[in-house]
Amino acid sequence: RAEVIINGSSSPLVLDRSSEIIKHQDRPSPSKWRHNQTLALKIRKHILKFLDAEKDISVLKGTLKPGDIIHYVFDRDSTMNVSQNLYALLPRISPLKGKNFQTCAIVGNSGILLNSGCGEEIDAHSFVIRCNLAPVQEYTRDVGTKTDLVTMNPSVIQRAFEDLVNDTWREKLLQRLHSLNGSILWIPAFMAKGGKERVEWVNELILKKHINVRTAYPSLRLLHAVRGYWLTNKVYIKRPTTGLLMYTLATRFCNRIYLYGFWPFPRDQDQNPVKYHYYDSLKYGYMSQTSPHTMPLEFKALKALHQQGALKLTVGECD
Ligand code: CDP
Repeated sequence: RAEVIINGSSSPLVLDRSSEIIKHQDRPSPSKWRHNQTLALKIRKHILKFLDAEKDISVLKGTLKPGDIIHYVFDRDSTMNVSQNLYALLPRISPLKGKNFQTCAIVGNSGILLNSGCGEEIDAHSFVIRCNLAPVQEYTRDVGTKTDLVTMNPSVIQRAFEDLVNDTWREKLLQRLHSLNGSILWIPAFMAKGGKERVEWVNELILKKHINVRTAYPSLRLLHAVRGYWLTNKVYIKRPTTGLLMYTLATRFCNRIYLYGFWPFPRDQDQNPVKYHYYDSLKYGYMSQTSPHTMPLEFKALKALHQQGALKLTVGECD
């Protein structure tokens, strides 16, 4: 079939000619999809030139000590000190060391998941990644419950847990953390200065309440490395979203990657409204701190990869 290589023959990010014609909001076709192992391996190899998920997933204990000064990745002029609590929670070895999974699910937070019935399919994957402590209990049928890694941007503490203003919110966060039950909690602590206290509150809670999670704090170079990889492939993202970060990391240790809940558009194919998040009332236009156009751009790139069989995007109902 006809293919267009978008930035020279060395790039593994290849667009099917049909994707130039189909508008990117169109739902990716699930029926025709076939896994392209050769391409998936090529992408893994290419990404390894920029970053190594095994290392970059977390700073390790041996590399920092309490009191060390860190410049924030996005606010270079601001610094933080490595606290005793943060140091205590740094892993000694990478939580992904030597890991390889046959299939992984990355669950984005789009409202497209509502009424999808995808819960069972998601839970059947060997490794399930979720974003920003998104709730699962009330949405099991559509999103499943299995969680092997969950991210937590510090801003989630403000947005979803009211900055822990009282015991009710503290208890809510505590419940959510307890429910993680040994999975990896991935906290980008060194990105932006605004999250300092929130990261500290969570660290303290984990230690004080002996919460069973494996904490990980992404390396200082991860974001720039991920951005560099995508820029090389002519995907001009300003700041990669959590979902794209997770996909980029997952290529290292997942043989087949399945994405759910990726749909940064306010309407579905049939023009029905789609909530920005499946679980809250956040509005479109918010789009995290990234440029408003980044998520649709990322989606377009992911859809091109779907069409090539490098990953599978599920948008809509599961069988
Ligand atoms: O941390 P961030 O604000 O990027 O993410 P989020 O709103 O918690 O959602 C997790 C991920 O799901 C995003 O990073 C996107 O990759 C994806 N997402 C999407 O594709 N469409 C949406 N309407 C919402 C989220």
